[in-house]
Amino acid sequence: MSQRILFLGPPGAGKGTQAQLLCDSSGLLHLSTGDLLRAEVKAGTDLGLEAEAVMGRGELVSDDLVLAIVRSRLSSHAGGWLLDGFPRNLAQAEALETLLAELGQPLEQVVLLELDDSPLVERLLGRGRADDNETVIRHRLSVYAEQTAPLIEHYRQQGLLVNVEASGTVEAIASRISTALD
Ligand code: AP5
Repeated sequence: MSQRILFLGPPGAGKGTQAQLLCDSSGLLHLSTGDLLRAEVKAGTDLGLEAEAVMGRGELVSDDLVLAIVRSRLSSHAGGWLLDGFPRNLAQAEALETLLAELGQPLEQVVLLELDDSPLVERLLGRGRADDNETVIRHRLSVYAEQTAPLIEHYRQQGLLVNVEASGTVEAIASRISTALD
């Protein structure tokens, strides 16, 4: 199986859920920029204070801040990894490519989790995280469509993209992902 994987998909597609399952069974490092940012917010660090309001609005935190987090984690890790929630725009994707070239660890596969907006909103409203109210969810979906969705074509052109239908049970989706990964 690939050792350097990226999960792409809209809010609520199940990136975090599926990434955790796959990493638990494979030993890959699960690197979720959303989780890392929420940990900074909880710890009340300067970085967390800077990120909190932006996350609460459903906007993207600054590229520099997120890149610093990813750089520090990947540079100090020797094994395989799964990126969840990063990159979120073309600038982050290009910075990631530069970093991975420096580290000699090219990305091997990108899994796109695909689901329509209506079940996404339903799932997120059922969770109730601080940024899971309907107005902010709709804004996160529009930020995804404008800034993150262009990465689909970017990775398709690089021959790295595999599409996975993200409806159904957690187990059914996990099985599709496992089939899709080389
Ligand atoms: P982030 O934490 O990345 O949130 P997100 O992309 O909005 O993704 P979610 O966590 O909402 O959804 P998910 O696809 O991971 O689904 P999950 O498995 O959780 O980002 C949050 C914020 O941080 C951003 O808005 C931004 O401000 C900032 N940020 C993060 N990364 C950044 C970056 N790189 N650059 C700039 N800013 C960044 O599942 C969702 C719910 O559905 C759960 O309740 C789950 O239990 C449920 N569920 C999962 N699968 C199923 C299923 N099959 N059936 C039913 N329910 C299911």
